[in-house]
Amino acid sequence: MDYGCITYGCEGGVARITLDRPDVMNALNRDMVDEVKDAAGRVPAEARALVIAGAGGNFAAGADIAPMADFTPGKARAFCFNDAFNAVEDLPVPVIAAIDGYCLGGGLELAMACDLRVCAPGATLGSPEIRLGIFPGAGGTQRLPRLVGTGRAKEMIFFGKTIDAHAALAWGLCDRIAEDPLAEALALAARLASGPTAALRLAKKAINFGLGRDIASGLACEEDAWTELFRTEDQKEGMRAFLEKRKPAFKGK
Ligand code: COA
Repeated sequence: MDYGCITYGCEGGVARITLDRPDVMNALNRDMVDEVKDAAGRVPAEARALVIAGAGGNFAAGADIAPMADFTPGKARAFCFNDAFNAVEDLPVPVIAAIDGYCLGGGLELAMACDLRVCAPGATLGSPEIRLGIFPGAGGTQRLPRLVGTGRAKEMIFFGKTIDAHAALAWGLCDRIAEDPLAEALALAARLASGPTAALRLAKKAINFGLGRDIASGLACEEDAWTELFRTEDQKEGMRAFLEKRKPAFKGK
């Protein structure tokens, strides 16, 4: 399918979504997030990992402010990106954000819906919405404190504070810094794509399920998911390979 605001491709088991409105620093509008959601829906059938990046040297400088200026609450709700970002978070494959330049507002919220964030040393991350008289409304108030802690999240959101990649790394908002974050993200994704698919999928499911729930529920989810792995060929292969002192050749089955 041809998209107007993103590009989507898939190679070697790794899918790639590129936010592609560089003239406005990839500002996210409803069309773009609908396309992200549509492309994300194709990923599980076509790929075993996904990388999301931005075109033109920026990840995304936030939601597109132009259409929002005169919104009523009803229009704001229809514009809200939670459905698309939740779809990204819920993907059964690992998702990596490759972050260059600005990653602000809705851009940061999309990046936080990914499993890992790789940033260029010069990347700028933040939630500047307060300066516009709003706050981040597509997961920012929920995912940011889970990643960086409540106090830091409140400081970023209340003051519209932006941080660089090094602070983001120290705070847990960035997982690694790379001169070429796209190349690094693609390399990580390729490693994950050749891994044991079910173990990765169920590890992600157990981690995400447990966040925000009591530990007993999380542990029960983990136990159920873990025991399921003993139905997979990759578990047999992984353990046999260890015992036979060779590298495992996972098939994703
Ligand atoms: N929505 C719509 N357009 C945006 C945008 C956004 N979130 N962010 C950037 N753009 C557009 C600018 O309007 C400008 O377009 P123009 O050339 O037609 O005027 C273009 O992208 C380049 O931005 P500009 O502001 O000229 O670049 P800069 O280097 O001086 O500043 C930023 C970069 C990111 C600091 C600045 O654009 C900015 O503050 N953007 C808004 C960030 C924000 O509040 N995000 C949350 C939105 S809810």
